[in-house]
Amino acid sequence: MVNNINTRCDLMLFGALGDLAQRKLFPALYQLERAGLLAEGSRVLAIARTEADTPTVRKQLFDKLKHHVKDAEFDADVANRFLERVDYQLLDFNDPEGYVALKDWRDTPANELIVYMATPPSMYGVIARNLKAASCCNEKTRVVVEKPIGHDLESSKVINDELGAVYNENQLFRIDHYLGKETVQNLIALRFANNLFASQWDQNHISHVEITVAESVGIEGRWGYFDQAGQIRDMVQNHLLQLLCLIAMDPPADLSADSIRDEKVKVLKALRQITPDIMESYVVRGQYTAGTSDGTPVPGYLEEEGANKGSDTETFVALKAEIENWRWSGVPFYIRTGKRLPEKLSQIIIHFKPAPHYIFDPDQKHLANNKLIIRLQPDEGMSLKILTKDQGLDKGMRLRQGPLELTFSETFETDRIPDAYERLLWEVMKGNQYLFVRRDEVEYAWRWVDQVIRNWKDSGEPPKRYAAGTWGPVASIAMITRDGRSWYEDA
Ligand code: BG6
Repeated sequence: MVNNINTRCDLMLFGALGDLAQRKLFPALYQLERAGLLAEGSRVLAIARTEADTPTVRKQLFDKLKHHVKDAEFDADVANRFLERVDYQLLDFNDPEGYVALKDWRDTPANELIVYMATPPSMYGVIARNLKAASCCNEKTRVVVEKPIGHDLESSKVINDELGAVYNENQLFRIDHYLGKETVQNLIALRFANNLFASQWDQNHISHVEITVAESVGIEGRWGYFDQAGQIRDMVQNHLLQLLCLIAMDPPADLSADSIRDEKVKVLKALRQITPDIMESYVVRGQYTAGTSDGTPVPGYLEEEGANKGSDTETFVALKAEIENWRWSGVPFYIRTGKRLPEKLSQIIIHFKPAPHYIFDPDQKHLANNKLIIRLQPDEGMSLKILTKDQGLDKGMRLRQGPLELTFSETFETDRIPDAYERLLWEVMKGNQYLFVRRDEVEYAWRWVDQVIRNWKDSGEPPKRYAAGTWGPVASIAMITRDGRSWYEDA
């Protein structure tokens, strides 16, 4: 189903005046226009519930683009050229009659139709049914939906069933925007293009893996949504588990969507269940209190605007995941993610086992583990920590740990790394599903996360507090220290 780059598309964007569309989707489309990747004749129908006309919406989108696109990348001519493609349609998503206007807009049925639902997931089924009833879609239509797909396994099945009643799985593009990040895609290249790592990537050579996705921001006006979700649903069920899958999966037979997704599903199925008896040593949940961010005082989670003072929702999760298969038996994956941590940082660290027989100074034995640090953001790149001899006559055979460093922006002189949404929209236009999540992936991920949430509920234990600007509750340090290890920053 892969098309060439000149595919002409009609993109119907539901929720076009919402935050996601304005902050991410329109800027991404603008960048595709700037890069010459939007085919002549491709068009966008911005659909929302607000009374407005096309000229007003174009004007508003121009201002938003100016605001969200970096100054150096903003070109008014390109913005205007792009906005020429955009029409606006007022629609009550629940009203089947209204969809006739969408059909009328599509006067060039030869264009590929893409429907992007940037709406709450509760609307996905309604929109799908109404589009079908108004003959606005067919078996070639591509449908893009955002996370969260539900808030647990059962609710995700309902949403997937509703979508599945109208569309085939090969029409559905479920977004996990982490899969669109350049460096996340690089994990596939790193692992499967370099034989060097292929032979080392298992329990014989790796002692443990750390995955950290830290954010310095707090809840930023999203309290209502976030409080229903919490960090485990918002980040672990999707982004963190996707990263874990890409690190842990077996080599796929090829780069096709199903080959990759089949391998990811095998990892999700092999995750060890976290039963109540091991919860305390495997999972830590936290909630931030007042503290500082970049030296500025910031309120605690319960003092944020709109907060329910009694909320027990977690803003931090650390957990130890184990994969029960031959490759990973005995290799813990320590995962950590939180809001209001000291910095924005996403990185994966592969800790290799020491050489089987150590012959150097016993005092330096602690240096003996090689590490591969994969920086997803910021400063995208990789660093392989290796041991060399310290230089100088007086140093004897003293060892020194140093990096083999690859910073993408320096090495490849890339002036900009495309935003995840640019890549994802581009792949949808080409009809390529490999960066999107299949139904069974979503459901296995929920199955694993649900048991942790159930255990929290049953135990009734509140989250542990941590001050904004710190690396989470001390219990997360204790969790890894008990295993004789430490989080990389603390090392
Ligand atoms: C989103 C979450 O999926 O990812 C947000 O809902 C989070 O809570 C965001 O802030 C982080 O994405 P990124 O690309 O900034 O790391």
